Amino acid sequence: MSYRKAFIVSNALMLAAFVWAFAKDFNAEWRPYQKKYYQLAADALEKKGLKDEARRMRRSPVEIKQIIAGDLGRFDRCVTCHVGMDEYVNPTLKNDFAENPYKSHPKVDAALVKAHPFTKFGCTSCHSGQGLATSVDAAHGWVKHWEKPMLKGVHIQGSCVKCHGNFETLKGAEAAALGKKAFNRQGCQGCHMINGFGGTTSVPLDDIADKPFERIAGYNFKRVQIDGKELRDEHHDSHWNIQNWILGHLLNDPAEVTPNDPFAHLNAEPIPPSGMPDFRGEISRSEADAIVAYLSGMTKEEVVPYRYHVPAPPAREPRLSGTARGRYVFAKYGCQGCHGLDAKQGRRRFNAAGDGQKEYDDTLPEAEQFAQMNLGAEPTLPNLVGTYTHEELVKKIQNGVPAADAKKWSPKGPLPMVTMPSWKDKISKSELDDLAAWLLSIAKKDDSGF
Ligand code: HEC
Ligand code: HEC
Ligand code: HEC
Ligand code: HEC
Ligand code: HEC
Repeated sequence: MSYRKAFIVSNALMLAAFVWAFAKDFNAEWRPYQKKYYQLAADALEKKGLKDEARRMRRSPVEIKQIIAGDLGRFDRCVTCHVGMDEYVNPTLKNDFAENPYKSHPKVDAALVKAHPFTKFGCTSCHSGQGLATSVDAAHGWVKHWEKPMLKGVHIQGSCVKCHGNFETLKGAEAAALGKKAFNRQGCQGCHMINGFGGTTSVPLDDIADKPFERIAGYNFKRVQIDGKELRDEHHDSHWNIQNWILGHLLNDPAEVTPNDPFAHLNAEPIPPSGMPDFRGEISRSEADAIVAYLSGMTKEEVVPYRYHVPAPPAREPRLSGTARGRYVFAKYGCQGCHGLDAKQGRRRFNAAGDGQKEYDDTLPEAEQFAQMNLGAEPTLPNLVGTYTHEELVKKIQNGVPAADAKKWSPKGPLPMVTMPSWKDKISKSELDDLAAWLLSIAKKDDSGF
């Protein structure tokens, strides 16, 4: 082929590509939404007798619209469809339309919209989703490979947590505040650190919202059930995403979501199932969503500039002393994450030797061995601490117990995943004294009066 011919052919191809792109854009999903909005808005103006305004509204150019919230690194085209929320088209941001994407934003008169002008905040700083996309599913982020899908329901309050250090007392962030309360009440911090506070048994959760969920194995996701439904590798509510992963840990037994390999069928060494307790029965459905809201704000990737950050007033400890303070200290550091609420009942500790188990017998079928290993538990403290002096108890808590000292039920089975951490550098001596005093005060006395 001569150069001349090649030139003509490539030009023709380029023209075809251009026509194709134009046609595709012309038929784009967003167009009918935007047109319909102008119709609805013009009709409403006409009804009010505002003929000229109505005519101008009807003639609005149909085009992609974008809010550039540069400070927050947001380029959001949501208002291409959600035109009623575009301050340029609709400066008061108010209308009476009942349906999305035409309606106005809720709470326009309240602090929410007033305090966060959309021209500065965009939309995805609160909602997440894919700002640049112009089709419904892609924009809402309910598609594969989009790591930050739109936050639904109360989960949107995770966004408040990113910016508002004061979220625990903030109007509109009640669910996130409740989530933090439930997190601390259950002792999640006994195993998971947040901003340097908490135990190291499992991963810190202060960047859990950034966890690429493509890295979570599909066979784990497949074991999650939410409201009796399996998650599927698709879009919408059943999507494999980080919100559903967190929820999955609270509405299922984590040991069933992450069963691992306790009999070393696939690995050289046995690996116990997840050491995270089964919280069903202690956390309600709405509290689980509240915890997801709280943890959805745990991001290190999304850096919020200083002037968009609202600081918290300094936290205050309650004024308590003696055993009352000791009980508070127990809960503060998350001891209940392993020893149960108010130390009443030690939680599951897979393959630890303990009460109520059969004698070890390696001829038992695997299912029976599994059931026995599953009866292993962390100590129920009131049954044990009565034998300690105050100083011994303080020492025990300071030093913890090395993992290798654990007594196993099955010698061939895995070492228990969860061990007693060392609290030496974490809890002050005065807190420890009150803690030990409280534990001794709840020690079970035997019949001889001890
Ligand atoms: C292509 C048009 C289009 C774009 C772009 C778009 N949306 Fe929507 N949005 C819709 C439609 C249609 C609905 C109502 C039906 C639905 O929920 O899917 C809707 C519903 C919603 C809802 C209510 C969901 C619910 O479950 O009640 C929210 C919140 C929302 N959009 C936020 C956004 C945000 C944030 C963006 C930008 C990242 C965005 N939308 C971009 C068309 C769009
Ligand atoms: C400061 C945070 C914030 C920003 C910024 C924000 N929203 Fe919202 N949005 C919310 C909250 C919170 C709700 C839920 C309100 C409720 O249900 O009480 C909401 C609700 C919505 C809904 C559902 C309305 C309904 O009643 O069905 C849509 C749609 C929506 N927002 C779109 C947008 C779009 C588009 C933008 C950008 C132009 C935007 N939002 C910016 C916080 C925000
Ligand atoms: C990108 C950061 C950012 C996000 C996300 C955000 N806010 Fe704000 N918010 C601010 C800033 C900045 C102010 C202004 C503070 C001031 O008045 O100095 C503010 C002010 C407010 C106010 C009024 C002042 C006050 O403290 O009472 C309320 C209420 C509020 N936000 C609630 C929310 C809620 C609820 C959410 C989540 C749905 C949210 N905000 C999400 C940054 C944010
Ligand atoms: C006894 C220790 C322990 C306690 C208490 C505990 N967890 Fe866990 N958690 C774990 C372990 C171990 C894992 C890792 C295995 C797994 O994914 O189940 C884990 C995993 C997680 C994950 C997934 C992390 C990731 O990166 O995939 C989340 C989310 C989580 N826990 C939340 C919580 C919440 C919320 C609470 C409190 C209600 C809590 N955990 C209490 C031990 C604990
Ligand atoms: C990550 C789980 C975990 C957390 C959090 C935890 N413990 Fe423990 N604790 C254990 C385990 C497991 C043992 C049993 C260790 C062994 O003997 O192998 C134990 C043992 C103890 C014992 C000794 C009981 C005995 O056998 O005589 C005391 C006392 C104790 N813990 C107190 C605390 C206090 C107080 C806190 C909070 C500051 C705390 N624990 C937090 C897991 C935990």
